[in-house]
Amino acid sequence: MDAKEISLNEKEVKPVVDLLNNYLANYHIHYQKLRGCHWNIKGQNFFTLHIKFEELYTNAQVTIDEIAERVLTLGKPPHSRFADYIKESEIKEINTIGMGDIDMVEAILDDMAKLIELEREVMEASEAAGDDGTNDMVNKFMQFKEKTTWMLRSFAGKK
Ligand SMILES: [Fe+2]
Repeated sequence: MDAKEISLNEKEVKPVVDLLNNYLANYHIHYQKLRGCHWNIKGQNFFTLHIKFEELYTNAQVTIDEIAERVLTLGKPPHSRFADYIKESEIKEINTIGMGDIDMVEAILDDMAKLIELEREVMEASEAAGDDGTNDMVNKFMQFKEKTTWMLRSFAGKK
């Protein structure tokens, strides 16, 4: 499989592939953070946030698979090792044990802001490469996080 099989220029989609792999690395660290929040949440909001974090990590899991398979569709192998994810990701791991519920929500909001920033970069690159498929896919992922950002900010009592 090569980018030319789907009428794309390999050289032109190279920046898209590289950005998608970086985005994938960031998403994996975010995914594991959501699992940690789901497991370690304590207090009055347990039932609400335990379920919400599960909903978000389930969504992230599907998203991760689509990002990786888009890299394959563009003719390259996606990163698949945690060593690469940790090395490449700008989103960092955190220890969720003993963390307050609103602190968890804020940590997830920070990740989402970073992921949205990366999505805008991917979309800029995919537009330049004429790669509408990647553009459309990432746009949908971004819209989900834009809306989730509004909801999590409302939950945390932020403006
Ligand atoms: Fe669970």
